[in-house]
Amino acid sequence: MPQNVMQISSLTKVFDTPTGPYVAVKDFQAEFQPGEFVALLGHSGCGKSTVLSIVAGLQERTEGGVIVDGKEIDGPGLDRAFVFQSPCLLPWMTALANVTLACREERRALKYLELVGVGEYAAQYPPELSQGTQQRVAIARALSLEPRFLLLDEPFGALDSITRCELQDLVLDLWETEPKTVLMVTHDVDEAIYMCDRIILMTDGPESRVGLNIPVNLPRPRSRRWAMENPEYFRIRKEIIGFLEHHSKQFVH
Ligand SMILES: Nc1ncnc2c1ncn2[C@@H]1O[C@H](COP(=O)(O)OP(=O)(O)OP(=O)(O)O)[C@@H](O)[C@H]1O
Ligand SMILES: [Mg+2]
Repeated sequence: MPQNVMQISSLTKVFDTPTGPYVAVKDFQAEFQPGEFVALLGHSGCGKSTVLSIVAGLQERTEGGVIVDGKEIDGPGLDRAFVFQSPCLLPWMTALANVTLACREERRALKYLELVGVGEYAAQYPPELSQGTQQRVAIARALSLEPRFLLLDEPFGALDSITRCELQDLVLDLWETEPKTVLMVTHDVDEAIYMCDRIILMTDGPESRVGLNIPVNLPRPRSRRWAMENPEYFRIRKEIIGFLEHHSKQFVH
């Protein structure tokens, strides 16, 4: 068994709200192996982004902690790169300048823009680019840091379904050629099964925690067509939907 690279230990997050403290996440426990691709899945508002942003060091924890190589993290670090649902590029800078701002080396920035297939747009400004191209730039910016951990918060959530599939495959290709530990927040069941080695299902808040850990033992590289015909794929899908229905009164897609 390989050594854990990251451990989330008894993580609790309490928000102060006008109506009193709100315990969004309580005693969240998880560990991640090197090179593992893990989804964090759950209903809207269950606390996925809260957990991910604490892992990124963008938000303070209330109790518990995140341990990398035996040491507790305290704040953001270049070992953990984040991609948000919206590209969050600076509109007054070119695509190349946006990436260079992160990695501080133009040659490296261009290499990653090319790697994600948008080298030709390097000199253009974000408002001139499509949503999908902007998100590719955001992915290049994260990868240009050459992080050990890639933290993705619904990175394809704002894209149309064709672009979404393209970018899912891009991230998978990049991860297969250069494995790193990936934590991806999503509420798309099919996306989680198609992309991940393991799916962590969160219960609904308040006091959200890990409800179920589901390994996805489907061979790689995966293809959509193959997945759609695979009985194991449907077994996992059923298990996830069963969990989500049980843990919420809301409709599950
Ligand atoms: N700064 C804050 N102050 C108060 N409450 C907050 C704050 N941030 C998040 N919350 C609450 O904590 C809970 C978890 O929020 P979070 O954004 O982590 O959920 P999520 O699973 O990412 O949801 P979604 O799928 O909609 O993105 C929600 O009930 C939310 O309203
Ligand atoms: Mg969220």
